[in-house]
Amino acid sequence: MEKLATTFTGLNFVNPFILASAPPTESKRKIMRAFDAGWGGVVTKTIGLHPVENVAGPKTIYQRASDIKPYVSRMKRKDTVSHSSWNWELISDQPLDIWLPDLKEIKANYPDRMVIASIMAGAGNDDEMENWRKLASACVDVGCDAIELNMSCPHMDRKDMGANIANDEDIIRSILNAVTGAVDVPIWVKLTPSTAKLVDAAGAAYEAGASSISLCNTFPSLPLMDPETMKFEVEVDGLVTSGGLGGLAILHQALQRVSDISKAFPDRAISGIGGIRGFREAFNFIVHGAGNLQVCTAAMEEKGSGGVGVDLIRELKHDLNDFLERKGYSSIEEFRGVARERIVEHSKVRRKSGSYNGGYSLAS
Ligand SMILES: Cc1cc2nc3c(=O)[nH]c(=O)nc-3n(C[C@H](O)[C@H](O)[C@H](O)COP(=O)(O)O)c2cc1C
Repeated sequence: MEKLATTFTGLNFVNPFILASAPPTESKRKIMRAFDAGWGGVVTKTIGLHPVENVAGPKTIYQRASDIKPYVSRMKRKDTVSHSSWNWELISDQPLDIWLPDLKEIKANYPDRMVIASIMAGAGNDDEMENWRKLASACVDVGCDAIELNMSCPHMDRKDMGANIANDEDIIRSILNAVTGAVDVPIWVKLTPSTAKLVDAAGAAYEAGASSISLCNTFPSLPLMDPETMKFEVEVDGLVTSGGLGGLAILHQALQRVSDISKAFPDRAISGIGGIRGFREAFNFIVHGAGNLQVCTAAMEEKGSGGVGVDLIRELKHDLNDFLERKGYSSIEEFRGVARERIVEHSKVRRKSGSYNGGYSLAS
């Protein structure tokens, strides 16, 4: 399956499929299991320096839809299919000094797999910039191949963290300046999809030295309330907060965000995330320009694999390889971005009267 190999942001991946920053990459045990199963890389669960304590209840729920009475709910019902995950989990509660020897051991055991350390600190003062530098340097010193800056967590109260800062181009620039000055590895920036200024934010990040944009983190959202019990499907003491929607339900929106960035910056790298459950979804990210694919919810949902998608990666690799063989492509690079020029302004699409034809022919 050598056709699956890709070079992305200067790093050699045995295949383009990696586990996103989330529970599948929260520990050494899970990451090693994922590599044994065949994943090309991992982005670690986000590592920070501030203390973390999660809510006193489930951190993630899986919501399913059914054909009969097609409502979405976490409730167990017959004949349902996956719709989405909803979570309000914070970043890793494992401190940096536990992570570091683990990361070193992982890299020593799997030198051909890419380990990208996701990190997060605050903004707005020199101490926080120093925290970004400290996190990045420590992870690179133990062998991490790249750094992903988490500027996208949708449920941070602190106004200087996560999705709250993703709109601010000055903050994006200052964090990138701090991190690129401290380490010499590719820097990926994970932005929130929940901003009207996404393309500007991505532009600021690329300009300030980001090798790639990772999109999307989960979409800010609320869990549903059950009409019978009048309770939210997940709550603590009757209370809930805005959390993040992931999984199949966000696929189309994630593709649109990736397409926007890919059209604005066709020569820059994008790692596609959001709703990938198999080859078809991955294919869609690639045709819009993504050169790397990250997966979270589908891996977490897989039963019997410890939540790292053992069957999923086998299937992804098989189906991508099969596609490349059948189409005669030597790698994903040969069809990456082919949809880019086919996403046009509404006025460029032919009208029923034929009065205006934007000029794109679908004939192959
Ligand atoms: C339970 C859970 C925890 C997550 N934690 C993080 C995190 O710590 N850092 C981060 O950048 N993204 C985090 N994410 C977001 C995922 O990495 C991913 O961007 C998102 O789930 C969309 O991908 P999916 O549709 O494949 O789930 C988390 C997602 C879930 C479901």
